[in-house]
Amino acid sequence: MKNRKTIPLQGQPEEAVLANMEAMKSGDPMWAEGRTWSLVYHVDDEHRALLQQTARLFISESYANPFAVESIQRMELDIIGMAAGLLNGEESTAGTMTSGGTESILLSLYTYREWARSSQQGKKRNELVAPLTIHPAFEKAAHLLGLKVRKAPIDGHCRANIAEMEKLITPRTLLLAVSAPAYPHGTLDPVEAASALALRYGLPLHVDACIGGFMLPWVEKLHPGSIPPWDFRLPGVTSISADTHKFGYGSKGSSVLLFRSMNHLRHQFFITTDWPGGIYASPTLLGSRSAIPIATAWAAIHSLGQEGYLGITRNIMEGCARLRAGIEAIPELTILGQPCMNILAFATRSNKPDIFVIADFLEERGWVVDRQQRPHSIHLTVMQHNLPAIGKYLDDLKEAIAYARNNPQAKAQGSAAIYGLMARIPFRGMVSSNVRQLFEKLYGPENGETEKAPSGNNQQMPAPPAWMGWLNRLLSKW
Ligand SMILES: Cc1ncc(COP(=O)(O)O)c(C=O)c1O
Repeated sequence: MKNRKTIPLQGQPEEAVLANMEAMKSGDPMWAEGRTWSLVYHVDDEHRALLQQTARLFISESYANPFAVESIQRMELDIIGMAAGLLNGEESTAGTMTSGGTESILLSLYTYREWARSSQQGKKRNELVAPLTIHPAFEKAAHLLGLKVRKAPIDGHCRANIAEMEKLITPRTLLLAVSAPAYPHGTLDPVEAASALALRYGLPLHVDACIGGFMLPWVEKLHPGSIPPWDFRLPGVTSISADTHKFGYGSKGSSVLLFRSMNHLRHQFFITTDWPGGIYASPTLLGSRSAIPIATAWAAIHSLGQEGYLGITRNIMEGCARLRAGIEAIPELTILGQPCMNILAFATRSNKPDIFVIADFLEERGWVVDRQQRPHSIHLTVMQHNLPAIGKYLDDLKEAIAYARNNPQAKAQGSAAIYGLMARIPFRGMVSSNVRQLFEKLYGPENGETEKAPSGNNQQMPAPPAWMGWLNRLLSKW
């Protein structure tokens, strides 16, 4: 095995370990300077320090069994209750905390599958009907659970087309799913119509509010009437996923999955009784769970309070409006769909000039650019740390457009060529097998070199292979 390594013979002093990690971080995206437009959900340095202190407090606990650590159990139940209140749940609303959006989505599908299997007539139900923009986590979950996703085309505003979804409903349909909002364009699906459809067919409806769950309620409070109802106020909505590690501002690794009632949730719990190690009962997917994400989510909610969330939301919605107005003032650009919060995507009209040439230009200026396809576009999420950078971004964007306009022969370069190619290749299988190969390279023996047993304390990390840079960029938008 070529990439076999040896654990250092002697431990290093704390300062050396920390210095080594600091050095490794030097190539990471400079999010604090507002150069990234996704992934990092930062409030301010004070909030970050609170999360760090909280993590220190719960570094040792293992939350494998929800009865094992009373403090974490209390915090988990507290957060679930507050999420149910925020999303207009009923008295019966119940849920669990998971490790993130993907786990919440996976468990929602699993729970509905188990619920359906518990009745004779539900056994053949194995299909999920959702719009094209639904997050890939649903496809991953369906793949793992032996279910099938049937995707309906979206409407002209990048929203779920409920009439198209209805056409895909068959006796095999297990559930419907829509987003609040969908990640690519920040557009809220017509959840009211989806709720009516679910009720008409007697199907469960999951609302993926992983990104919007802790944001839309504040936007609605600040701008009454701007957000149509999408949560448990709608009678057809049976479950919602809302991530505390996104706009809840906890540290990474937490989400809330709520069901309208225990009727569904009880099918999520896994219990086995004949293991020699004892009775094993697990409410979610993971076994041992870190207590840290739950504790930091709890700390975030309690230190910010409603007023804190409203203040941050006001700031970032104002910033987003400024950014949007700046983009709309550029005649070549168009905003896709109808963004309902602080997420938007823009494209050039008929891709002229090529949006990826513009993306290249922005990257040259040090911006981390999230590229999207179908249609080619650039994705932005406005966070607190982006606010001071908006003016500079718009200036660079105008320059990028002028450059692309004056150089019509310019072709997307570097990573853009790869992205552009990836987006244009007609055979999706080729893209998928290329990315699979990259994963094999990353985790396989081709990565790194065989190491000799280190003797001193001054080991340097080997430099990452060159291809890792573009793979990281490719994957960073997920
Ligand atoms: C709408 C939506 N659903 C699900 C997810 C997946 O969440 P996670 O990355 O926490 O697994 C995301 C992530 O951005 C998202 O935006």
